[in-house]
Amino acid sequence: MEVLGPTGAHATPREVVEALGLRHPVGDRPRVVAAMIASVDGRATVDGRSVALGHPEDRGLLRELRAGADAILAGAATLCAERYANLLDPGQVEHRRHLGLREHPVLATVSRRGTLRAADVPIFSEPGVPIAVYTERGAGLGDAAADVGVHALGEGGVTLRRVLASLHRDHGVDGVSCEGGPRLLTRLIAEDCLDDLLLTVSPLLVAGEGPTALAGPALPRPARLRLRDLHRAGDHLFLHYAVDR
Ligand SMILES: NC(=O)c1ccc[n+]([C@@H]2O[C@H](COP(=O)([O-])OP(=O)(O)OC[C@H]3O[C@@H](n4cnc5c(N)ncnc54)[C@H](OP(=O)(O)O)[C@@H]3O)[C@@H](O)[C@H]2O)c1
Repeated sequence: MEVLGPTGAHATPREVVEALGLRHPVGDRPRVVAAMIASVDGRATVDGRSVALGHPEDRGLLRELRAGADAILAGAATLCAERYANLLDPGQVEHRRHLGLREHPVLATVSRRGTLRAADVPIFSEPGVPIAVYTERGAGLGDAAADVGVHALGEGGVTLRRVLASLHRDHGVDGVSCEGGPRLLTRLIAEDCLDDLLLTVSPLLVAGEGPTALAGPALPRPARLRLRDLHRAGDHLFLHYAVDR
């Protein structure tokens, strides 16, 4: 076995994200990078949220992904559980300007049933934030102050392939940072739409009934990953995998 050890080369979260080459479309869809954090026993939440698993460098990675992506994709359940608000700080906005990106990434979300309510997620009250909601039949989001576009894809029509193709075609999105949650990530992989996985292993044991990093029905066949990079910060491990296809 190769010894990776604690003395590997240092990389800042910005360098890790720059090395991804995030904004390169794959056919008719954007490139998709997912960032997830899980305990050593694989749990993605502690008391229903991911915050207790975190580390400043992990938050730094998410921050850089948000600054460098054209769109953030998150499941409706994640938007509600994590109370999404204030996606960017002034430093991220400045970095986007430097990269020649539009001021704000599109926040894209999926809910087949369209049960999302603006009052449940603070970011829907932030004027001007571009939000794309993909549903089967529409959503009651008329009272949102954000700039919400609802894409009704019809009964059974909400596939991640269609969502991603629409983001590319209708919103000019070349690179997506997927922030979960576990059910959405499983669907992305089942539809062969994930390119890279940044998995942070948090030095906790959690057990219980909370979701693991992937959740829902088993994949048609296990997805094969290639380890592209490995970092550590304190006792947290940062694994960068590419999906092998
Ligand atoms: N550790 C981490 O890195 C991390 C990251 C993100 C979230 N989380 C945690 O994960 C939990 C939420 O995750 P989750 O897995 O319950 O939900 P999720 O992945 O955030 O959201 C799934 C949503 O996608 C919609 N959806 C649309 N098409 C779907 C399809 N084909 N299959 C499945 N869902 C589809 C579902 O809405 P409909 O049912 O209306 O279709 C559902 O609301 C929260 O506790 C959050 O804190 C952890």
